[in-house]
Amino acid sequence: MESVTEQRKKKILSCIQPSGIPTLGNYLGALKNWPPLAEEFDGAFAVADLHAITVRQEPAKLRRQTAEVLALLLAIGLDPDKTIIFVQSQVPAHAQLAWVLNCFTQFGEMSRMTQFKDKSAAHADNVNVGLFAYPVLMAADILLYQADLVPVGADQKQHLEIARDIANRFNGIYGDVFTIPDAYIGKSGERVMSLQNPEKKMSKSDPNPKGTISIFDAPEVIMKKVKSAVTDSEAKVRFAEGKDGINNLMGIYSCCTGLSMEEIEREFDGKGYGDFKVRVGEAVVEELRPVRERYERIISDKAYLKEVAEKGAEAASGIADRTLKKVMKKVGFWIP
Ligand code: TYM
Repeated sequence: MESVTEQRKKKILSCIQPSGIPTLGNYLGALKNWPPLAEEFDGAFAVADLHAITVRQEPAKLRRQTAEVLALLLAIGLDPDKTIIFVQSQVPAHAQLAWVLNCFTQFGEMSRMTQFKDKSAAHADNVNVGLFAYPVLMAADILLYQADLVPVGADQKQHLEIARDIANRFNGIYGDVFTIPDAYIGKSGERVMSLQNPEKKMSKSDPNPKGTISIFDAPEVIMKKVKSAVTDSEAKVRFAEGKDGINNLMGIYSCCTGLSMEEIEREFDGKGYGDFKVRVGEAVVEELRPVRERYERIISDKAYLKEVAEKGAEAASGIADRTLKKVMKKVGFWIP
């Protein structure tokens, strides 16, 4: 049995891409879970800008969005004095470990990734090797910090599984180098769908802005989008197969209020979709209001953001470089 002094606090790590304005899906599926987990565990959270360039980005926009997403990580309530908050490209070990892990990952495994299939169809003119190897970089992000838990939405589950496979394979050859990570998928917000096409996940990169609620949308914009969400002709608020639009709104309402599906059905018994949508819109506005207000204050303080990023990169590098060094020794790189 481990003695008290030997017990180590569990570690968590997660990242978000600065490839657009984060959505309600990012918030309910992932970000909302991060501050309470960071209280309980040793946490590291990053803005994954290396991942973002697998799709062509406009440099000035990418730079601005990276600072915005960093500010958002602070606005959701992560405390940089207790938790490591950093920008991925400022910690070179991510790209270095990714290269090594590329050599322990099979072409066939990567070809089966559903996100690769979707993204290569969406960007057929730019199916680059980075897009293909993206899950290996994600594995490097996770394994560098020896993370036990990785809080993500359901769309990242397959990438987590491949990270586990790569870690197990590497450990099988070289001994216990990496902690095997588990996905932490929150209960209700695991998959928030587009308001206009509820068979598709709500996404930062959706070209139809009506389907996506951005974390920074003004209250009247949120209300308008929810009111125009696709539903069905039954006019009854109940969670059932074939009612994707209503199921999605119920899921969103459940995340914002903590109510179960049964409680929501009871609340709206005998009421129409109009009443329901107004309540969902109000609940989303109230959920995002404090985040938006804190964000407005933080984003204008560039000196503070710079300080957080520098401190975060230094702390992250300290941990990441330790793991990288171990890996370099194991594979046989000469370290004079
Ligand atoms: P990204 O930037 O697409 O999304 C960030 C987080 O938000 C979750 N998410 C959703 N959850 C529920 N419903 C949705 N509609 C929805 N859309 C997004 C995602 O699951 C994710 O948790 N590859 C990752 C970033 C990444 C990463 C990592 C994550 C890079 N390295 C290491 C964990 C660990 C991504 O593109 O997330």
